[in-house]
Amino acid sequence: MKAFIIIKPDAVKRNITGKILSRFEERGIRIKAMRMIKMCKEEAEKLYSIHKGKPFYDSLINYITSDKVVVCVLEADTDKLIEIVRKMNGKTNPAEAEPGTIRGDFGIAMEANVIHASDSIESVNREMPIFFTKEELE
Ligand code: CMP
Repeated sequence: MKAFIIIKPDAVKRNITGKILSRFEERGIRIKAMRMIKMCKEEAEKLYSIHKGKPFYDSLINYITSDKVVVCVLEADTDKLIEIVRKMNGKTNPAEAEPGTIRGDFGIAMEANVIHASDSIESVNREMPIFFTKEELE
């Protein structure tokens, strides 16, 4: 099974990309594909289309396109991978995320919350192809 994550600009800027990815690798999760990019507005709007119209939408688009991010496809031999990754990330709001989780250990703000992860197979199948071709995922 695959999962899709984005290491957000705050984490890339603070040089904790490796630390975050190590946690997944140590758990037994493989990095299937990965790229550092500066996301363009079109990609950001596709990624966050479900949040269009919400009060934080414009700010979210500005933030995610403000600096480099690492887009990454993870893989493991379990049908619970998406759930496991989201548990490892912790609650969306780092103020509520448990210590020991990625957001609980490295985050403090709701917008600059270190990491994004697709929340279902449907989201993975929608979000992953915005950044990776089929060939890159073979
Ligand atoms: P993410 O998992 O990337 O998905 C949408 C992002 O919007 C979320 O993480 C937060 O960084 C950001 N966000 C900002 N304000 C809110 C809010 N009130 N509710 C949910 N997400 C928010």
